[in-house]
Amino acid sequence: MSIVISVNGAQHRVQASPETPLLYVLRGDLGLNGAKYGCGLGQCGACTVHIDGKATFSCITPVAAVEGREIKTVEGLAPHGDMNALQRAFLAEQAAQCGYCIAGMIMRAQALLDKVPRPDDEQIRRHMQPNLCRCGTHMRIIRAIKRASGTSHRSIA
Ligand code: FES
Ligand code: FES
Repeated sequence: MSIVISVNGAQHRVQASPETPLLYVLRGDLGLNGAKYGCGLGQCGACTVHIDGKATFSCITPVAAVEGREIKTVEGLAPHGDMNALQRAFLAEQAAQCGYCIAGMIMRAQALLDKVPRPDDEQIRRHMQPNLCRCGTHMRIIRAIKRASGTSHRSIA
């Protein structure tokens, strides 16, 4: 069927079965490869995007469910190629090892900062809990979020 979805502020008409995972449409139809396929089961967060501002697993979200809603991918954080503050902080803290989880991590973290600009450690840890990093860079990721929010002076122990 023909479905119109709004991604990073642009409307796209795609041909897909209603139950097709949004992740497949983003990557396969729109060429937005930031979101990654990790588990495909809603258990790792590599595929995280924003839907109406909420961090969401795109691998278990049917494309038909997002018609009329606003989708943002990691590419939408830097529409003109300039990294935003959170992306710069991830770079400054060298948060990526293999990098596979990072787009999802950034999108989940950005959803927090959009609602809570200066989160405390507990808020960061609780919010980031659904996203996994197999390289174990979680402490660097937390440091990056704190750097972007201007709360680096607070303890992360
Ligand atoms: S690929 Fe979506 S949660 Fe793992
Ligand atoms: S940096 Fe490798 S999975 Fe997170």
